[in-house]
Amino acid sequence: MKRISLTQYLIEEQRLNNSIPAELRLLIEVVARACKTISHAVGKGALGDVLGTAESENIQGEIQKKLDIISNEILLQANEWGGHLAAMASEEMETIHPIPNRYPKGEYMLLFDPLDGSSNIDVNVSIGTIFSVLKAPDGMATPTEEDFLQPGTKQVAAGYAVYGPQTVLVLTTGNGVHSFTLDREMGSWVMTQRNMQIPAETAEYAINASNARYWYPPVTRYIGELEAGKTGPRSKNFNMRWVASMVADVHRILNRGGIFMYPADQREPDKPGKLRLMYEANPMSLIIEQAGGAATDGKQRILDIQPTTLHQRVAVFLGSRNEVEMVTRYHTEE
Ligand code: AHG
Ligand code: MN
Ligand code: MN
Repeated sequence: MKRISLTQYLIEEQRLNNSIPAELRLLIEVVARACKTISHAVGKGALGDVLGTAESENIQGEIQKKLDIISNEILLQANEWGGHLAAMASEEMETIHPIPNRYPKGEYMLLFDPLDGSSNIDVNVSIGTIFSVLKAPDGMATPTEEDFLQPGTKQVAAGYAVYGPQTVLVLTTGNGVHSFTLDREMGSWVMTQRNMQIPAETAEYAINASNARYWYPPVTRYIGELEAGKTGPRSKNFNMRWVASMVADVHRILNRGGIFMYPADQREPDKPGKLRLMYEANPMSLIIEQAGGAATDGKQRILDIQPTTLHQRVAVFLGSRNEVEMVTRYHTEE
């Protein structure tokens, strides 16, 4: 494959399909640059004094890691001044962050999980950044949380960076899923995969099985059948993987298929799962669908859910189409 940069891809995509206007290109390039900065900080580890816990909690009641806060700051600062955004929202901020008055405002709104997989930071396992881009509603004057509450189908772009053995950026603007590897010497993002496709069939699943005793019957049934292997109802052996960083689990599934699950369970019956709809489930669902996979909350397509709050949680089943359809059927057959 002829190697092209992220910039070249974005410009050519606009020329061919008119789908990435200049402001959106700027937005994506700024986010990609911020991810480069985060990748650099991650790579310094103990030498950069970026490991360990900060003395604060986020809105979800989770203890923040130093890197959660550092990554959030990097994304905010990078995106404030360019004139491409109206407002931002983040896992690490209780409410939205409108662009300060000293800067021009644009028509896009950016949501992010600045650092996904926080429990893996200090043990040198892959972590990442997830982002979602929406358009500001027509006639919006001062942005409010309401303006962000759009279903995932309205996303104009979504992506993630994974900080692993390689730093890779995966992006969709609604025309396929493409990945770019960070050339660390040159400091540039180089396209390394075009039109990624998830196989419909798979023999690999990802779930935190330590929660098995809290699962609802459809999940217990589905996982039981996978575990039963060759002599069970599925007549085939399945392998299990759980990185505990959604970015890394999704990245594996994009590359070789699989199903990722974070179901709602009976630990906290009022909570519909652990993952957050707006900046985890929605962007990942758009990417997965664009690569030929499927994503549901067990009952319905995640991208169709009308959000009601910025930090709302959702059950997630995503990946290879046939498996997602099966576990979704088990939920609806109940
Ligand atoms: P975050 O670090 O942004 O809070 O997200 C962590 C999420 C997700 O990345 C991962 O799939 C899941 O939490 C892991 O949950 P367990 O701790 O239950 O394994
Ligand atoms: Mn996360
Ligand atoms: Mn996070």
